[in-house]
Amino acid sequence: MEVKAFLWKGDHLLLLDQRKLPLEEVWLDLRDHIQVAQAIKSMAVRGAPAIGCVASYGFVLGVKSGEDPHRVAEILKNTRPTAYNLFWALDRMLKAFEEGKDIEEEAKAIEREDYEANLRMGEFGQNLLPNKVRILTHCNTGALATAGWGTALGVIRSAVKAGKEVFVWVDETRPFLQGSRLTAWELAKEGIEHRIITDSTAGFLMKKGLVDAVIVGADRITLKGDVANKIGTYSLSVLAKEHDIPFYVVAPTSTFDPRIKDGSLIPIEERSPEEVKTCGENIVAPEESDALHLAFDITPASNITAIVTERGVIRPVNEENVKKLLSL
Ligand code: MRU
Repeated sequence: MEVKAFLWKGDHLLLLDQRKLPLEEVWLDLRDHIQVAQAIKSMAVRGAPAIGCVASYGFVLGVKSGEDPHRVAEILKNTRPTAYNLFWALDRMLKAFEEGKDIEEEAKAIEREDYEANLRMGEFGQNLLPNKVRILTHCNTGALATAGWGTALGVIRSAVKAGKEVFVWVDETRPFLQGSRLTAWELAKEGIEHRIITDSTAGFLMKKGLVDAVIVGADRITLKGDVANKIGTYSLSVLAKEHDIPFYVVAPTSTFDPRIKDGSLIPIEERSPEEVKTCGENIVAPEESDALHLAFDITPASNITAIVTERGVIRPVNEENVKKLLSL
């Protein structure tokens, strides 16, 4: 059965607690927008498109309970600063409210459109890949990170569906381990051949000729095509360039921030140093040591071979082509 990260139940939202995976499949029962905001902030749900969908349902819960729509949107926005889909979805929900539309239907449309976009990106993306391919991916961009199917992982799924021989190197993705805990969980469920590596293994595998393509998702994309994504993505892009390996970004147009030209203007989320100083329940650093936890980095457009969206493929990645795709 297809993995779902969240299920809308009409008057409450069920959320698969991603902090507990792969050991336990625990569903949280969220009844108001405060609980939804906490779930997003604490990463019970994560991945930019999934965050956008879940926030939309949080908006419905808050507004239907009589709260001020602007205040509800503000509380939900004040959770994960880099993921653009969060802001895109809540602005769309506010607009729907102001236009007198049915906000529950709007949230369902956001979920449905994200799923459909993933299927389209899957097709566009898998067409870029050879029949036999070893892909390296970072973080989790699958069904858990979206309304279903996935972005970068959706391309992998579509390639397998198209009959291609696919092997996946899964970056463990410190410190939250979205790769080893979540991507490997999704791939294992579907029997897609994969192997987990520590993040620092990627370069040597490329040097040895064991990686044919790098495919990642995005949290925010600027007009120039600079991409914010999980910390470590930039390093992978530099390594891929050095080894002449194609580097693909897969993201729906709801991840593009048309107000920002340059990657240096994207707000980078900084999370608690404690998440670096621990690994699961285990403490892995001296108490007196400080740590820096930047959750995202910026990959410049010049390191990206192509960006795959539901409207088509941007290649080469530059301002002119981004604007053309977004009809700006
Ligand atoms: O901190 P996370 O787990 O929310 O970060 C997720 C990513 O970086 C993903 O690559 C991105 O959101 C795209 S998910 C389809």
